[in-house]
Amino acid sequence: MSQDAEIQIPDTDYDFVVVANRLPVDRITNEDGSPGWRRSPGGLVTALAPIMAASTGAWVGWHGATDEVLEDFDKDEIHMVPVPLSEEDLQLYYEGFSNSTLWPLYHDVIVPPEYHRTWWENYRKVNRRFADAVLRVAARGATVWVHDYQLQLVPKMLREARPDLRIGFFNHIPFPPASLFSQLPWRRQILEGLAGADLVGFQRETDAANFVRGLRRYTNYSVKGHEATPDASHSVQNVCRAAAHPISIDTADVAELSKDPQIQERARQIREGLGNPKTVMLGVDRLDYTKGIRHRLKAYGEILADKQLKAGEVCLIQVASPSRENVDRYIQLRNQVELMVGQITGQHDTLSHTTVRYLHHSYPMREMIAMYLAADVLLVTSLRDGMNLVAKEYVAAHQDGKGVLVLSEFTGAADQLTQAVLVNPHDIDGMKQRIVDAANMSPQEQSRRMRRMFRHLEEHDVMRWSNKFLEELAAIKSRVKA
Ligand code: G6P
Repeated sequence: MSQDAEIQIPDTDYDFVVVANRLPVDRITNEDGSPGWRRSPGGLVTALAPIMAASTGAWVGWHGATDEVLEDFDKDEIHMVPVPLSEEDLQLYYEGFSNSTLWPLYHDVIVPPEYHRTWWENYRKVNRRFADAVLRVAARGATVWVHDYQLQLVPKMLREARPDLRIGFFNHIPFPPASLFSQLPWRRQILEGLAGADLVGFQRETDAANFVRGLRRYTNYSVKGHEATPDASHSVQNVCRAAAHPISIDTADVAELSKDPQIQERARQIREGLGNPKTVMLGVDRLDYTKGIRHRLKAYGEILADKQLKAGEVCLIQVASPSRENVDRYIQLRNQVELMVGQITGQHDTLSHTTVRYLHHSYPMREMIAMYLAADVLLVTSLRDGMNLVAKEYVAAHQDGKGVLVLSEFTGAADQLTQAVLVNPHDIDGMKQRIVDAANMSPQEQSRRMRRMFRHLEEHDVMRWSNKFLEELAAIKSRVKA
């Protein structure tokens, strides 16, 4: 460490540091039996990998196992900095404050958020640990990009310790209106934590506006448009800007895979395995109460009962990937969903046809693309969703102009995929009608809508998202108050 006035700056080259709850790698066992790491699939790492390779990039995040301290390691030109979490941290910071307080509060209180002081204390402690890991690796003047609701206190912690850093934050989930956010006993600390960043990015303009309104109401920042300036009493003196930067996918990669003959053959096999029904519908979600899976199943079950679509002619593939399996609300949801699936299939299946193929697994990307290709209709019926990248992947896989996207109005994606069949998942009758219309849509109409959405995603991909965010961040650095 070199001494820079009172600021400690490590002697490293890492000039671009990403901080997220998880490292972008999964543990594997190599062929020789030795342990290793594989880059995890996902848009964020795809978008950032080239930027990290072009600069000297480090990624700070949890490696996925508890009570295990790992040394830093390098993988695919990224310096990985594992942050340890204990079993207690997992319960209080991750399952507790992140996923039983913030997650439901930020998703329209679909289930009631729980407020516990012990969770909050641990969230602060773990955020400090992530910030310290950044401080250990970030070179002088480095750009640090912090991601998501698990780490909202990190920007201010970094700013206090290192005014030389350029700090960005991106919130992948919605930011709630003041009427809901006001419930949070620690609302001021969260807002001030975020405002330590030079730029706070959100999925939608509404989210950015909610954040700015929160700052105005609950802090003594002075707010002008989308910029907030602290008064002299604050320990940090940066101007914070809020902006909408809707995230996207690697469109070219998905489109390329969709042309792979092996994947196309796999799509044919999938349909065949279902008995070649006239219409294959698909839902792909983490098994989460925000996704509206129960609303979707209710509508679908009634469509079958009303014989608007007929068993034998339609099948719904529902992929529900396991998620947060120790959190009570997720356990309850799994039970409810599995009961509903059992009721629908018990009532409508025949010996030769199933009406719902329910899959509680996650799948590799190639298999997902095969399912997208096999599906005539994708059902995205979230009650609230920051963006929903499944909707974008489905469109990117359908350069052929086939298929219909049924999309909830309550997703960030609905702002951009305006040619989708938009639904309000709370309106079961309305949604039923639109699902039936989607199943009966003419090929010409399908193609007209799909091609327009595809063109949008060709231009607005995840590389553009990260470039635009980082350009805006670079441009506002010069306005940090002296
Ligand atoms: C959402 C969040 C991410 C999170 C992911 C999976 O997309 O925005 O931050 O990583 O869900 O959830 P998990 O709890 O498994 O990390």
